[in-house]
Amino acid sequence: MLDISGHIVIIDFGGQYAHLIASRIRRFGYRSCILPTETKASELKGAAGIIFSGGPQSVYEKGSPQADPEILKLGIPVLGLCYGHHWLGQTLGGKTTPAKVKEYGPVDVKVLDRANPLFAGLPTGFRVWMSHGDEVSVLPDGFVAVASTKDCRFASMADLRRQIFGIQFHIEVTHSQHGMDILRRFVDLCRPSPWSVKSYRQEIEEQVQRQSKGKKVFMLVSGGVDSTVAFTLLTKVLGADRVQGLLIDTGLMRKGEIALIQKAFSALGIKNLAVKDASEQFFRNLEGSVDPEDKRRIIGETFIQVQKQAFDAMGFGERSAISDQRSESQWLLGQGTIYPDTIETGGTKHSDKIKTHHNRVELVQRMIEEGLVIEPLKDLYKDEVRELGEELGLPHDLVWRHPFPGPGLGVRILCAEKPSLPEGFQVSSFKFQVPYAVLPVRSVGVQGDGRTYRHALVLFSKKPCEPTQEHFDLAASIPNENRTFSRVLLCSSHSKPFTPVFTPTFPTKEMADLLREADAIVDEEVRKADLYKAIWQFPVVLLPTGAKEGNRSIVLRPIESTDAMTASAFRLPPKVLQGMTERILKIRGIDAVFLDLTSKPPGTIEWE
Ligand code: XMP
Repeated sequence: MLDISGHIVIIDFGGQYAHLIASRIRRFGYRSCILPTETKASELKGAAGIIFSGGPQSVYEKGSPQADPEILKLGIPVLGLCYGHHWLGQTLGGKTTPAKVKEYGPVDVKVLDRANPLFAGLPTGFRVWMSHGDEVSVLPDGFVAVASTKDCRFASMADLRRQIFGIQFHIEVTHSQHGMDILRRFVDLCRPSPWSVKSYRQEIEEQVQRQSKGKKVFMLVSGGVDSTVAFTLLTKVLGADRVQGLLIDTGLMRKGEIALIQKAFSALGIKNLAVKDASEQFFRNLEGSVDPEDKRRIIGETFIQVQKQAFDAMGFGERSAISDQRSESQWLLGQGTIYPDTIETGGTKHSDKIKTHHNRVELVQRMIEEGLVIEPLKDLYKDEVRELGEELGLPHDLVWRHPFPGPGLGVRILCAEKPSLPEGFQVSSFKFQVPYAVLPVRSVGVQGDGRTYRHALVLFSKKPCEPTQEHFDLAASIPNENRTFSRVLLCSSHSKPFTPVFTPTFPTKEMADLLREADAIVDEEVRKADLYKAIWQFPVVLLPTGAKEGNRSIVLRPIESTDAMTASAFRLPPKVLQGMTERILKIRGIDAVFLDLTSKPPGTIEWE
């Protein structure tokens, strides 16, 4: 069981809120962790503070998440946020009911009790972010109103004697002014134990020693930050003779990727990494597949096949950590799983299935239950993993690389056997002044809480590398007003409109090579322009269409984001866009380049 002494424990009522709060508290330099709604009061003794998170449901609904009320008798400072605030109101004898006016977005809050320790020293009024349909309508005994808004009487409440605080607005999001100040004041009041990546490293190392019980660890290294850091850490702690890494070349990796990883490891003296070229196997299994989810599944399954083969070939045979003879195994399986993947939040539990995390496929899940999996990064957030990577001596550029999807370029080669044009789409019903064309392919998008699979519209401009505000406005309005499209692009290679011509395209080495070249050019140009840090991620996508038959085109998708949940198009300087476009057009087989102007939602970051 997790030792929670000195921690601020976040009780997770669902959604992504719990992670935002926990990671912020760690950024302050204190211990925090997330526990499920079912956690009993007896398990929380010794915690420094408890935060009840927001969540998507209504506390008075049947089946809505309810925490153990005994927690409120432990004498530990408590803060409830949004749903957590409602739960406190209802559980302590007040009332939570549907609000007469539901507040969404920015709202002005007025502080009524400026002596309250969470609000002391803050202005009397400031702007916060609200998102609620319910409210605490009757205060529980012992509570006073601390803040209110025009439409919400109890935007904050407190019982100072019991040190229980409730807040309706979302202090954890950056749109709330003074949100961090309020959280900080609560954290200070709890006096949690200090925490840092540096100090935590020692704890992880001790854990690894304990958990490995003298066994060896086999680990797949993908070249991504998480697996690279995990492998380095395991090797440093257990020694090279007890850790074996395997890098599978899927044929869907970026240009120079394998060499880059090998170089970083050899600079650290790490030699226990085998590389297996399995690209033929991957392309063979992918032959003829065009559906995005099919491709994902095939790539995932091929990974497991190759892993098994390699394990046998390396002489681990019967005792393989991934064979069925697990109980006798002298091997453990190492994984680079990080905290958000470890904690299944209510939000992800109930949300649409978008992808199965490859670290949690059924076989691995069973092995975890049997204690055969070692995951040294399971309690860390991404930025903390990066910090640890630097601590371990990995190069800065490697650990701060843009995220890259597990299935690699496989999800960036858009494939189709036949062109797909929107049914019943009337060009005449489409009224705006900018020339455009419809792309005969569909891509994945997200609207509301579900995924969409719709077409993309290309705009043309006399100045093709200078997207204007009008273009960005159209990119926002077209998918909103028209269910046919989920993406809007600007053609950066042609000022004169043309009708994109379709060529059947499948996930082959030839297509991967084309995309790899374009992707390498983009990477180079972005670094040259010193934009690598400003851009959060920059997928480069190959489309089965071109200006002429037999050719393909490239989509540039630079985005800004903080957590990949939402994103907006990054505004590339025209010169940079022009430079990339010109170089990409020199690749044989590519004759058009587009810039994706779409936000997420309605687009997703990747095209499939
Ligand atoms: P989307 O396209 O859903 O992507 O907006 C959000 C983030 O997730 C990454 N991504 C993946 N990562 N396996 C991964 O490991 C996948 O199948 C996958 N699909 C998307 C994407 O690159 C972005 O950072």
